[in-house]
Amino acid sequence: MVGIIFGGRSGEHAVSLMSARSVAQAIDRNKYDVTMIGISKAGHWIGGDDPLRELEQGGYDAPGRALLGAPRQGELMSVSAALVPGELRLAPVTELDVVFPLVHGTYGEDGALQGLMEMADVAYVGAGVVGSALSMDKGIFKSVMSAAGLPVLPHLVITRAQFAEQPDQVVAQCEAALHYPLFVKPANLGSSVGISRADDAAGLHGALVEAARWDRRLVVEQGIDAREIEVSVLGNDMPQASSVGEIRPRRGFYDYIAKYVSGDSELLIPAPLSPELTERAQSLAVEAFKAVDCAGMARVDFLLDKSTDQLWLNELNTIPGFTEISMYPKLWAAAGVGYPELIDRLIELALERKADRDRTERTFEV
Ligand SMILES: Nc1ncnc2c1ncn2[C@@H]1O[C@H](COP(=O)(O)OP(=O)(O)O)[C@@H](O)[C@H]1O
Ligand SMILES: [Mg+2]
Repeated sequence: MVGIIFGGRSGEHAVSLMSARSVAQAIDRNKYDVTMIGISKAGHWIGGDDPLRELEQGGYDAPGRALLGAPRQGELMSVSAALVPGELRLAPVTELDVVFPLVHGTYGEDGALQGLMEMADVAYVGAGVVGSALSMDKGIFKSVMSAAGLPVLPHLVITRAQFAEQPDQVVAQCEAALHYPLFVKPANLGSSVGISRADDAAGLHGALVEAARWDRRLVVEQGIDAREIEVSVLGNDMPQASSVGEIRPRRGFYDYIAKYVSGDSELLIPAPLSPELTERAQSLAVEAFKAVDCAGMARVDFLLDKSTDQLWLNELNTIPGFTEISMYPKLWAAAGVGYPELIDRLIELALERKADRDRTERTFEV
């Protein structure tokens, strides 16, 4: 039984529903039984006949109905109020062999959901706790890339507390280390939410105020005039890179509107790059994947400096947009791996990784 988990308490809730609908339609039903497990915007877990439709219709805000079970049970449990006030009643809903988490962003892509599945001892698609968490945090991700000798743009990490206490000093510190334009980002968010470009001190101040609404850690990054290059990676210990893609946003930068509202960004597959740059993007993507101990899948995004042709690692998405027309599956399709086959491979990789984990000894007795 494959459990597809989607929705969730994240800015990318709606994108997640689209990914879930695509996977549910394409997954090989002769091979897999499928249970749909939705998480509402308020964080309630819902099972039942058609949780996807319930969330798509919006406004769902009933108490939770489903929960992952205890270790070794690998079960999904329904939760309801017991006859005794204040107590809950748990009833098994179904056994799960593997979970396909399609919750993007907070609580889904950041290791929280992965931790829950580890505790329940259930196999799941994609990166584990560490890989998820440190790929989600833009500041820590850059530190790990630097430590692995991989190229990231010059940047500073600032806490909201620091900025609140000494705003002028923070602005001066950024101006001393970097030069305009700068990009200011909340460390732990996706979909360009809270990100802005600053071209002077006043702009930087405003950008920091905005980013500080969304996270307690802020990343201030050297802005460059860049092309946006993306590579899909698939595998566990021996990951492979897909064809290389490019996104050409029609607006100023690839912000939330360009990503999900206007729909007029151009996807170029393969990206018009020299063979050398194509190969470099692919090998950097695989190295980044290994450096964060990723598993299953990741879409690795680069900024390619238009004036120097230098490739900078920007981010690694462990649960990338996964509709049939999203970049991650499209890059694999261009490399000869179709969408249903990709889903199949990811489930196999999840089971393989679980089997590998189960070989690890955990008890030590003297
Ligand atoms: N240092 C930078 N220089 C130029 N453009 C940038 C820079 N950082 C981000 N951007 C622009 O902002 C977009 C969103 O930033 P990104 O770091 O990818 O955050 P998100 O996780 O929200 O996708 C990028 O796709 C790019 O268009
Ligand atoms: Mg991005």
